Amino acid sequence: MTANRKPRVLVTREVFDETLDYLRQHCEVIDNQGDRPYAPEALGKALAACDGLMCSLTDRVDAALLAAAPNLKAVANIAVGYNNIDVTACTVRGVMATNTPGVLDDSTADLAWTLMLGAARRITEVERRVRTGEWTGWRLKQWLGVDVHHATLGIIGMGRIGQAIARRAVGFDMKVIYHNRKPIQPELERKANASYVAFDALLAQSDFIVLQVPYSPATHHLIGAAQLVKMKPSAILINSTRGGVVDDAALIAALKNGTIRAAGLDVYENEPKLNPEFLALDNVVLAPHVGSSTEATRQAMAMLAAKNLVAALKGETPPNLLNPEALRG
Ligand code: DGY
Repeated sequence: MTANRKPRVLVTREVFDETLDYLRQHCEVIDNQGDRPYAPEALGKALAACDGLMCSLTDRVDAALLAAAPNLKAVANIAVGYNNIDVTACTVRGVMATNTPGVLDDSTADLAWTLMLGAARRITEVERRVRTGEWTGWRLKQWLGVDVHHATLGIIGMGRIGQAIARRAVGFDMKVIYHNRKPIQPELERKANASYVAFDALLAQSDFIVLQVPYSPATHHLIGAAQLVKMKPSAILINSTRGGVVDDAALIAALKNGTIRAAGLDVYENEPKLNPEFLALDNVVLAPHVGSSTEATRQAMAMLAAKNLVAALKGETPPNLLNPEALRG
């Protein structure tokens, strides 16, 4: 980048006007307000003369793409999860990679709770029955759900979002247990009112199991047939993190044969082409990857990504740098 030229950045998907306004103060911006996702090859071509990339989880940033973008200095993901980015490949090329932690914790925790409550009280199923005219009046044993209050909540993955989910359980008088790579600090455990347990103990004891681990080869199919049979037949499984953490075919079998009671899902393997068998099941609440999707939170995510990108292109260390090693060498 020469001293008198603004860095050129590509924004792969539609963002908010304020995000573009901020970027344009510092950069020459190629936007995509029409929101047509780039095919990988087209993305490589569009990026050929760019210094920066602002992307989303629908864009794959891998070695091949980086090879097509020799001037690239920074990649800013508009998401906290970054399994769409090959961070190692970025580091090898000295490309900084950033994500958007922190600003979406509460909204994502709210959505996990929406799925818990929705699955427990069968809310999408009964709403459908109202809409189709199937509801003809009150009955004592009508579409019975299960209680969330006083139940045991098991959280797998106790980062910031997991802790925000746990804190909400206080008002429901729940017992909260969690499993993580290692226990969180005692002070955070106290705030979350949660106790560390072994993975299998969590599967066996929880009435609600919420998955909040990032997706990686290590967490691929963390929950499959072998784990589902260890859960209570009354258990409700919530996946509000990433598709692939759950083996969806195994979950469908478990929901069909009563291995567990129900599920609430915001994410899927191969989304948006989710396994069509989910659509035929009443005991699953299905959301379209909207965990962080409130106006305020998505604006904050996009702005944080923009600030990361601008900082990186100014030669500063961006606030949410994933690969500080990229700066060495
Ligand atoms: C994230 O930030 O990882 C979310 O899944 C995006 O909505």
